[in-house]
Amino acid sequence: MAAGPAQALTATGGVEQRPRHVAIIMDGNGRWATERGWPRLVGHRRGAERVKQIVRACPDLGVNWLTIYAFSTENWKRSTEEVLGLMKIFRRYIEREAEGMSAEGVRMRFIGGRERLDPKLRALMSSIEARTAGNTRLNLTVAINYGGRDELTRAAGRLAQKIARGELAEAGEDDLAGCLDTAGQPDPDLVIRTSGETRTSNFLPWQAAYAEYEFTPTMWPDFTPEHLGTILERFGMRERRFGGA
Ligand code: IPE
Ligand code: IPE
Ligand code: MG
Repeated sequence: MAAGPAQALTATGGVEQRPRHVAIIMDGNGRWATERGWPRLVGHRRGAERVKQIVRACPDLGVNWLTIYAFSTENWKRSTEEVLGLMKIFRRYIEREAEGMSAEGVRMRFIGGRERLDPKLRALMSSIEARTAGNTRLNLTVAINYGGRDELTRAAGRLAQKIARGELAEAGEDDLAGCLDTAGQPDPDLVIRTSGETRTSNFLPWQAAYAEYEFTPTMWPDFTPEHLGTILERFGMRERRFGGA
């Protein structure tokens, strides 16, 4: 599904470009906690609180799609304590926010490989996806056990199967996009990474090929809707050319 950025009238009557789809690499939870002498999991818990605030703020900021990077295929390298702690935070988030998200019109989806996840978490993920499937105010996609290379590898496998079954003669870009975890979702217009790191760490390599990027030194547990608002204003000043003259 192709999607251009939403347009909104500014106070002065001009047309301001708004990103319709924002993707966020929520980084810096561990350092935020360590700087304060606290365990890393305290930072992750504070980070989850920030997610709630940002999710609530998005519709009023004109953002209709929000994709957040919660756990990468590489994050399994961390200590068992941290990995299990993060999985518990994900379970709790879904359980506690289910009611509110339904009431606020949030549709929740997940991207990333699910086989490696705990069956209980997987069941919660499927049930919240089904429960919120009719909502349209905000499309929230959470990347858990997500890696762009893993997603592309799985997509290539699906595509090869389609060709082998004779459903497709040859594969084009749309065919591959349709085999990704994000099939049917618009590409992100803007990718934000917190914590001062200026790398993409395997996040949406296909989908963000033409996204604008913003890197902010703010650690994720300190990132507020006001920070997001300022970044969105800056996005409005950018000229996107998509290879045109
Ligand atoms: C981001 O914060 C959250 C996850 C990757 C799960 P980090 O845990 O990477 O925090 P830093 O980068 O170590 O500070
Ligand atoms: C990227 O952050 C993954 C998430 C935010 C979930 P990392 O902290 O894992 O990335 P690197 O290791 O600094 O590249
Ligand atoms: Mg990090």
